[in-house]
Amino acid sequence: MLYEKTSTSPVNIAVIKYWGKRDTELILPTNSSISVTLSQDQLQSKTTIRASPKFTKTRLWLNNVEELNLSNNARLQNCLRATKKLRKEYEDQLSDEIGRDNVIPLSTYNLHICSENNFPTAAGLASSASGFACLVYTLSQLYELPISTTELSKIARQGSGSACRSLFGGFVNWQMGTKQDGSDSQALQIASSDHWPELEALICVVSDAKKSTSSTEGMQNTVKTSPLLQYRINNVVPERMKFMTDAILRKDFNKFAELTMKDSNQFHACCLDTFPPIFYLNDISRAIIRVITEYNNSTGKPGEYKAAYTFDAGPNAVIYALKQNIPDIINLISKYFPPSQNNLNYFSDPYNLFSN
Ligand code: DP6
Repeated sequence: MLYEKTSTSPVNIAVIKYWGKRDTELILPTNSSISVTLSQDQLQSKTTIRASPKFTKTRLWLNNVEELNLSNNARLQNCLRATKKLRKEYEDQLSDEIGRDNVIPLSTYNLHICSENNFPTAAGLASSASGFACLVYTLSQLYELPISTTELSKIARQGSGSACRSLFGGFVNWQMGTKQDGSDSQALQIASSDHWPELEALICVVSDAKKSTSSTEGMQNTVKTSPLLQYRINNVVPERMKFMTDAILRKDFNKFAELTMKDSNQFHACCLDTFPPIFYLNDISRAIIRVITEYNNSTGKPGEYKAAYTFDAGPNAVIYALKQNIPDIINLISKYFPPSQNNLNYFSDPYNLFSN
């Protein structure tokens, strides 16, 4: 017998950034974070998992290429172990109710996992977030686990920190938690995707090359060497979490935009404060920041914003704006960065605009 499940998961882009771990095994962060989950029309991971008593080992294919040495992949193993353990508990519970012979011992079967992204991997576009969210979600479906999404987020977190946020749509809070075992480091939804339908994300793919310093490695160097990160953790993020949650709930774009840009700036300042420094932004990224700043200044009213840029661990920009301003922003960006000259791809969520 073969058992199979397929599911898709979205990308999330943080507006209050996660950067730094207090426990690198369990993936427990040094600060809480907030993200917006993008619609799945443009960016998604898709995972199919098969379980069979005939499979002689567990195998994984990423974008059609088989990953070897799975036993060395601690993050994958942690997610598999945690979901299998829950499945085993569920099987024991079912056995008590309907008899062992009537329960499929899926927890003992090897798996064939096939996962793909429809966007650049490891280019700062949160591919590990949607990938691990998709893996853990698909496992939970295959195993029919009777657990909540927040419980599941604690497992996805152990694959990649930001993955815990991709299990929810809309606006998501990853509470850092304080417990050593990670049992309170979990994702919760602040508001669903239909809460603020006017908000859109425009994604500018400046480069789809693999980043030179991975988030995982970069953030721990920052933890070790950056005094600015310690200041951020203690003095900036806690208050920003409250203000951002409030801005989202009130749909206050000005406040949302201001906090988003400031938090992206501070995250990249922490990267620069790391020793040796980490550079994720490039000349085009910085030019996009200038264009958006000019565009916001054109309102002539301090504190009023029409667009907010944010950058993760790579040069690609995500610009949040209200739907009515997206055409203007695309015009601006395409005027300053003609696609033919810059090798830039733009697409907005949910519209595919153009690509070269
Ligand atoms: C800059 O979640 O990729 O995108 O937990 O080591 O897998 P690991 O790191 P990852 O880091 C994401 C960092 C970020 C900010 C964010 O998404 O909050």
